[in-house]
Amino acid sequence: MIAMDGPAGAGKSTVARIVANRLGYLYIDTGAMYRALALKALRLGIAETDPEALAAMAESTEVELQRAPDGGNRVLLDGEDVTAEIRSPAVSAIVSKVSAVPRLRQRLIEAQRALARAGGVVMDGRDIGSYVLPGADLKFYVTASLQERARRRLAQLHEEGHVAELAAVEAEIARRDEQDMNKGVHSLMRLPESIVIDTTGKCVDEVVEEILRHCRRK
Ligand code: DC
Repeated sequence: MIAMDGPAGAGKSTVARIVANRLGYLYIDTGAMYRALALKALRLGIAETDPEALAAMAESTEVELQRAPDGGNRVLLDGEDVTAEIRSPAVSAIVSKVSAVPRLRQRLIEAQRALARAGGVVMDGRDIGSYVLPGADLKFYVTASLQERARRRLAQLHEEGHVAELAAVEAEIARRDEQDMNKGVHSLMRLPESIVIDTTGKCVDEVVEEILRHCRRK
């Protein structure tokens, strides 16, 4: 079991997916599960400031991850494929707030632990090493400078056909960092045992090799 935590836009999901493929492990994108619930809240008109309604919604929702051909995840929300839709700016804008609701988290965390039970997983998120899989064999903290993370997110948004500007993307990521670092036991944090990987100025291959070196050493 490998835990990979870090802030938004650090390149975590790309490298986690490739590392999982190289090791023959299953990649699990926990952020995608929170995004699926945020999407459902948007569709139902449930405000991100209404924890009771969000928790009730989560308890009657099925979020499922399937392995896609590229090793990434297909995300099913009550059986519907929402893989592309959960990346929309509207979802990104509310997901951190939605993911702060304790009962909603509890439901997804149970599912995440069940997925990891058989071992052989690379799980990507914020609280994986600290809370979801504290017994993980290896824990990585993948990060990059705010500017670089904003540039990458912008490129990704453009690729997906969304219209966005750098300053707005940077502000949104900074706001998300702030929220993600203030969620009590689920906060994004560097653990003493985490291996810190700074991806600023590095290409994907370089980062993947760096992580695989640590895995081989283990
Ligand atoms: O990794 P991402 O940016 O797709 O995650 C979307 C949001 O979900 C992010 O703002 C924080 C939240 N999240 C979380 O609270 N815990 C996780 N394990 C993963 C994501």
